[in-house]
Parts: sequence; structure tokens; C-alpha cells
Amino acid sequence: MAGLQGKRILLGVSGSIAAYKAAEWTRELVKEEALVQVILTEAAERFVPALTFAALAGTSVHRDMFADDPEGMMAHINLSREADALLIAPATAQTIARLAAGMADNLLSAVVLAARIPVLICPAMNSAMFNHPATQDNIRRLRQFGYRVLQPGCGGLACGEVGDGRLPDWDEAREALLSLFAPTDLRGIKVLITAGPTREAIDPARYLSNRSSGKMGFALARTAMRRGASVTLVAGPVALADPPGMEVLRVESAKEMAECVFARSAQCRVIVKAAAVADFAVEAAAEHKIKKTGTGLQLDLVKNIDILAELGSRKGPRQILVGFAAESREHLQEGTRKLQEKNLDLIVINDILGAHSGFDVDTNQVTLLDQNGSQEIPLLSKEDTADRIWDAVCALLSSAGEKRSG
Ligand code: CTP
Repeated sequence: MAGLQGKRILLGVSGSIAAYKAAEWTRELVKEEALVQVILTEAAERFVPALTFAALAGTSVHRDMFADDPEGMMAHINLSREADALLIAPATAQTIARLAAGMADNLLSAVVLAARIPVLICPAMNSAMFNHPATQDNIRRLRQFGYRVLQPGCGGLACGEVGDGRLPDWDEAREALLSLFAPTDLRGIKVLITAGPTREAIDPARYLSNRSSGKMGFALARTAMRRGASVTLVAGPVALADPPGMEVLRVESAKEMAECVFARSAQCRVIVKAAAVADFAVEAAAEHKIKKTGTGLQLDLVKNIDILAELGSRKGPRQILVGFAAESREHLQEGTRKLQEKNLDLIVINDILGAHSGFDVDTNQVTLLDQNGSQEIPLLSKEDTADRIWDAVCALLSSAGEKRSG
């Protein structure tokens, strides 16, 4: 099952102006085919009527401990029993204080107290309220209870002030939600991932590049984060936003990517080179735009450094090195050659001619190859493919006797 599809999410909304964003989040969850139940506090309803959430979630909204209990069932117990995770967004200073004190004086706080499922809290409030030692103490306490509390965003607030207190972006909350369901088998492992194409300048206006969108590398970065890794993502020019919670370094040419990777590679336990690095660069890029004066144009190309091969030659004894092989024919043969020649632990062989695999699509169909043999992975989303790659990496870490258990 991919992403949040089929996940039963209990969304608790408390009374902040950011409650309108929770309505948008409800929509996002429904779009992903999550099954959403909404609990509103009395104050939340002052900002957004229950009808809005009911219409978006496609189900009635829970507001009252007793009114919800027509058949003698106990809503405050049953709601969390029938959910996979509890998301509280926005969580006001008042709701946070209530939960930290273990109170059960409204439906939301009673549900949280009775819950045996993972809880994710997304605070939103005025920055003075957020930074007050009382709120900070309460948040520490919630973390001690095992709840995940996101840091609010910094920026302009509804009260006119600028500071900490904005509800985090949906992308960040979604990642945190997904990490509640992910294994933690990469916890404490430092990974470096490269993604996207490189651009090799011809002149100030033009460049040589390739069709890579970066989607596979970004999917690897997101899924590694969810599994607990500490991630550095080195990305060539792609149209994808920085995934939350990781170090993202943007580079342009193969030379820049090489410098960036070599400066960090020694500190990383796992390196995955998903980038489609240009094999050749223009020997001397023109300083000014080349004019179309002649009948043709000859470009002298020089070979770029093979970053992966260089990483293979300097690989530390504990390091796991994963490469990709973009192939249009003789896939297994070429993959085997690259695995040996570049001193890799694992290679992901990609058919770039497949209609649903390779460049710029959201799905992929790969073969994983290591010293023990090959494994065909079916056609999956790039995120699910990424998870299969991490499963294989974890098996390698495990067999090296180094894997940390989750
Ligand atoms: N790679 C690299 N540096 C390069 C070229 C490739 O690090 N200058 C890495 C890619 O990131 C990928 C792997 O090498 O992980 C294989 O890339 P691919 O383009 O499939 O193969 P090449 O080694 O470039 O060989 P060829 O293009 O001849 O198939």
C-alpha cells in the first residue's frame, strides 16, 4: 500500500486561525485515499464550521463526548481504537497544555489520553505563546510521552507578528505522518544521495544535459528520512522542492557534484548515486554566447570524472555504495560490469526505454543486483521502489553486522 492510502487518520483540530489549513489538510488526506475522521474542539468550530470538515472528509465530525455516543459506545475510547494515527493540527497552546497535564475535559483530550496509537502534534500559535517557558515545558513533556511534536514554521503570523508559530507545511506534516508508519531500520545511519541530471555549459545561454527529473533520487531521500536516516541530498538542476528535514545541496555541473560529494562522502555510511551525471563536458565553455555564423558547430567534449567509480576506489571498509545503471539493452550484463568495475555493493538497473520506468515518470521497474545475485522488482511507484532499495541496503548493513535495529 503506497503512501497514506488506506491509513485511518484521526485528525484533531483545536481553535487557532490555522484551523482553516486543517480543512485543506483534510482534503489532501482524502485525495491520498486516507480514511479521515475529524474531532473539533469547541474553539476550532468558531473558526471553521463542522460542516466544512464533514463535507471534505465525507463523514460526520466528532465534537462532543456524549452527543457522539448514541448507542452507548464510548467515543473517546473507540475513535482511537479505530485509527492508525492521531494527528493534532493545529495544536493551540491551550490544547498542548491540556494534553501535557493529562486532562480529559473535552473529546479531543480524552481521545488522546485513551489512545494507544502514534500521535503527531503540529503546534500553531502566536510566537510569544509558543516561546513561553510554560509552552516549551509542555512540549517537552509531550515528547516524553512519546508523541511526535513538529517545530512550527517561522514567518508572518495572523496576529501581525513575525516569528515561530506558523502551522508547518502539509509536506512536512505528511512526511512526519508517513514516518510514523515506516520501519526505523535506518535510524542513526548517515546517507548521502545524489539526484537529477547535471548541466555542462556550452556558453552562458546553453548547456548539455539529460532527461533525468530527479524523482527517483528525491524518493530515495524522502523514504530514507522516514526510516530514520540522517540524509544529505545532492541534487542537480531539477524542478522539485527541497524535501523537509534534510540537508539539500544544489549543484549544476558534474564537477560541482563531484566536489560536493567528495567533501562529504567519508562521513557517510551509505552513498546512493541516483544522479544521471553527464559523462562529457564541453572542453572550454564559451565566455559569450556563440553566434550562428558558420554552417555548423563543432564542440570538443572531455570526459567527466566518474564520481561513482572514484567513490568505489576510495570506499571505506564500513561503507555501502549503491549505483544506478541506466540501460537500454543488455541490462544485466551491463549492470554486472558496472557493479564489479566501480566496486559497488549494490546496483539498481533501470530500463530507460520502458514506458513506465526511467526518466520523468512517477513509476519505476528495476532489477537489484549485488554479489549474491539479482532480484527483479515489479513496476511500482518511485517511492515504493525506493523502499525496496532501502530494504536491500538494510540487508547489506545487516549482513555486515552493523545494522541498528529499529
Ligand atoms: N556516474 C557517476 N559519474 C559519472 C557517470 C556516472 O557517478 N560521470 C554514476 C551514476 O550516478 C550511476 C552510475 O554511475 O550511479 C552509472 O551511470 P550510467 O550512466 O548508467 O553508466 P556509466 O558508468 O556512465 O556508463 P555508460 O554511460 O557508458 O553506460
